[in-house]
Amino acid sequence: MRTIVNTPATGDVAFRELDAPVPAAGDVLIDVKAFSVNRGEILNLPGNAEGWRPGWDVAGVVAETANGFTAGQRVVALSLADGSWAERIAVPAGFVAVLPDEVGFAEAATLPVAALTALRLVRESGSLLGRRVLVTGAAGGVGRILVQLASAAGAEVTAVAGSAERAKGLTGLGAAVVVTDAADAEGPFAAVYESAGGVSLAAALELVGPGGTVFSYGNSSGEPTPVSFFQFFGGHEQAVLRHFVFVTGAPVDADLAELAGLVGSGTLSVEISYRKDWEHINEALAAVRDRRVAGKAVLTVG
Ligand SMILES: NC(=O)c1ccc[n+]([C@@H]2O[C@H](COP(=O)([O-])OP(=O)(O)OC[C@H]3O[C@@H](n4cnc5c(N)ncnc54)[C@H](OP(=O)(O)O)[C@@H]3O)[C@@H](O)[C@H]2O)c1
Repeated sequence: MRTIVNTPATGDVAFRELDAPVPAAGDVLIDVKAFSVNRGEILNLPGNAEGWRPGWDVAGVVAETANGFTAGQRVVALSLADGSWAERIAVPAGFVAVLPDEVGFAEAATLPVAALTALRLVRESGSLLGRRVLVTGAAGGVGRILVQLASAAGAEVTAVAGSAERAKGLTGLGAAVVVTDAADAEGPFAAVYESAGGVSLAAALELVGPGGTVFSYGNSSGEPTPVSFFQFFGGHEQAVLRHFVFVTGAPVDADLAELAGLVGSGTLSVEISYRKDWEHINEALAAVRDRRVAGKAVLTVG
C-alpha cells in the first residue's frame, strides 16, 4: 500500500510502500479517497520521527463488511492513531459515520478535525443566543465552520482574519463584524475562540467580558503570550481562560453523522480552496503553512 511518511531531515514528507493495515476487532477497514490537511498535523511533523505516518481526517469506502458497516459504503472517519495519508486505514467503528449521498469525499474529508472542533466549541459554550463572540483564525479550517455554527446558534460573531483578502466570504458565513487584528475587536465578548496564540491570546484576555470564557485551543503563531493575570482581574470578573481539546477518546460517530447531515442539507458550507491529487502533498503543506489556503486543503487519493 502507498502511504505518506514523515521525512524530517528534508522538511517534507515522502511516499513509501508499506504493508496494508490488518484491522483489529472493532475496526472498520477503509479505502481512503480523500483527506484534508490540518495545521496541527503540520505542527506535529518536525517533532516526530522519520517514517511516522500523519493524518487524522478520512473520507472513503468501506473495504470489508464488519462491525455494522458494509463493504462499499461511503464513510467519513477520524483516525486518532494518525496514518490517514495512505491508500487504506483501519479505524475503530465508533469513529466512523456513513456519508449521505449528497456529500462528496472531498467535502467529507474537511469535517473530522475542523468541524468536530467547531461543533464541540459551540456546544461547550452554553446558549449563544444573542451573545457576542470572537473567533480568531476565522479564515482557516476550524474558523470558517465555527463562524457558521456560532452564528446559527444565535451569536453575534466578530471574526478575525489576517487581511481583507483572507476575510473574503466570512460575512456571508454569518460574521456580523470582521477585523484584521484581534486588538481592533470591540469587546466585551461572552466567548472568545482563540487559536492564533501569542499577542492574539493576550488581546482575547482583554476582550472577554465578566463571566465569559476564552477557549484557547491552538497556537498557530507558535509565539508565547505575554499575560498579566493581575490585569485580567480588572473588568473580567469570573472570566475563565480554558484550554480546549476537541476529543476525549470517546466515540465521535454521532457528531460526524450530524455534521455530514448539515453539509448534505446545505446548512453547513465547507470551503475548499485547495483540492489536488495527493501527489501534491508537499505543495499543499506549504500552502497551509504559509496561510495561502482559505478554509481547507483537500488531497484526493487514487
Ligand atoms: N485543541 C484542539 O482540539 C484543536 C483542534 C483543531 C485545531 N487546533 C488548532 O487550532 C488552530 C487552527 O487550526 P486549523 O486547522 O483551522 O488551521 P488553519 O486552517 O491553518 O487556520 C489557522 C488560521 O489562523 C490564522 N493565523 C493567525 N495568525 C497566524 C500565524 N501567526 N500563523 C499561522 N496562522 C495564523 C490564519 O488566518 P489568517 O492568515 O487569515 O490570519 C489561519 O487561517 C491550529 O493551531 C490547530 O493546531 C486545535
